[in-house]
Amino acid sequence: MPLSIVILAAGQGTRMHSRLPKVLQRVAGRPLLGHVIDAAERVEADAIHVVYGFGGDVVREALSERNVSWHEQAEQLGTGHAVMQAMPAIPGDHTVLVLYGDVPLIRSQTLAGLVDAAGADRLGLLTVSMDNPTGYGRIVRDAAGAVQCIVEQRDATREQGAIREINTGLIACPAHLLAGWLDRLSNENSQGEYYLTDVVGFAVGDGVPVHTVSAPTVAETLGINDKIQLAEAEKALRERNAQKLLEAGVTLIDPARIDVRGHLECGQDVEIDVNVVFEGNVKLADGVRIGPNCHIRDTEIEDDTQVFANCVIEEAHFGPRCLIGPFARVRPATFLGSQVKLGNFVEVKKSTIAKGSKVNHLSYVGDTTMGQGVNVGAGTITCNYDGANKHQTVIEDGVFIGSGTQLVAPVTLGEGATIGAGSVISREAPAGKLTVARSRQHTIEGWKKPVKKPKS
Ligand code: UD1
Ligand code: CA
Repeated sequence: MPLSIVILAAGQGTRMHSRLPKVLQRVAGRPLLGHVIDAAERVEADAIHVVYGFGGDVVREALSERNVSWHEQAEQLGTGHAVMQAMPAIPGDHTVLVLYGDVPLIRSQTLAGLVDAAGADRLGLLTVSMDNPTGYGRIVRDAAGAVQCIVEQRDATREQGAIREINTGLIACPAHLLAGWLDRLSNENSQGEYYLTDVVGFAVGDGVPVHTVSAPTVAETLGINDKIQLAEAEKALRERNAQKLLEAGVTLIDPARIDVRGHLECGQDVEIDVNVVFEGNVKLADGVRIGPNCHIRDTEIEDDTQVFANCVIEEAHFGPRCLIGPFARVRPATFLGSQVKLGNFVEVKKSTIAKGSKVNHLSYVGDTTMGQGVNVGAGTITCNYDGANKHQTVIEDGVFIGSGTQLVAPVTLGEGATIGAGSVISREAPAGKLTVARSRQHTIEGWKKPVKKPKS
């Protein structure tokens, strides 16, 4: 049967105490709703509908690039009312799978199982047993174990409150059945809302079989209502990502201390030390080692390069066998060839540095093209900004720059040039020659040290 997915994302999420609508709170650097849309896409539905509402268009705008249909629920009158907003757009012969925008860790395999449970003529319900079911709707079964209904925590009797099997909120069923049940919902309950969960009671009354699917892990069914649960989800996702990396053969010094906020691809024999945060798309080739406390975003690192502790790296490409850091800051559009060394307190931006060149200590290299085998002395600065515009520095192969040099761009250092330490270079330094641009040292003969006057 064709499949339509409806994602409920209109709620405010009062318990977050935030100006952001709940589904825009982030786990692993991305909005909750983004994770749910990802899972929905992997199920390969014919259509994905998102019901939004609280906060006006912010949710829709934040995820405007996603390929989904948006339906506004102007007033948040409950989960059942939310589903109604999308129903007119769903053909009667479709299966409807309802997801919650605040249940972000759900896996597509589990969803596929739920769709199967619904089949052509049943109601599929995703449930899970929790040690602490506080806040969730409880699954009420009869003596024979058949599902009778779902009661919300607030509407539950004491006995029902003790039930540990809970409603994850996710259901699947044929659209024509669901549409009929939604028409019959009332809001006579403790919250005065139209509860989607009441369709279960109707299914039972109508003799439609209710099939439950038990979620393989509690983590993937976590409903995120407050910052405590948000932190739990973050932890669960961190564990899931770390597990995948370990299974693929990556060495993680501590799987509890790596954060992947985006996509990390690793070759063989990659080693990652503690407290490393990856963002966006990061690719680490064979034998790459990342030291502790690094932050790496949208970067590709080739074979056997080592990044030492405390580096911040964004939008860069490193060739093989480079040595980076500790304490290097690499900013966007930095391209390093093979065997390049960037040492401590070195900042590089929008620059290309070719094979074997070294910038070992306390330097700023910006808007620069650097050739091979260059040695940049400690404390060298490219003065790339004149207060209005940025200018280029060109450093050709084999240049040696003495420490404490300032290169006032635009400027070119010719192949094999040597620059005397402490120079301020503002004109071309010719190839193969020594250029020094600093005042000469001189010593004052006969100079006397001042002496303190006696107090009168
Ligand atoms: C809901 C279920 C509960 C289940 C729990 C699982 C109902 C009545 N209760 O409770 O049985 O155990 O989820 O996490 O369904 N939403 C809208 N419009 C609305 C109300 C909610 O779009 O008018 C969206 C919210 O943005 C959220 C989802 O629906 O993504 C769930 O709403 P929420 O208020 O968090 O429901 P719970 O009280 O957690
Ligand atoms: Ca919830």
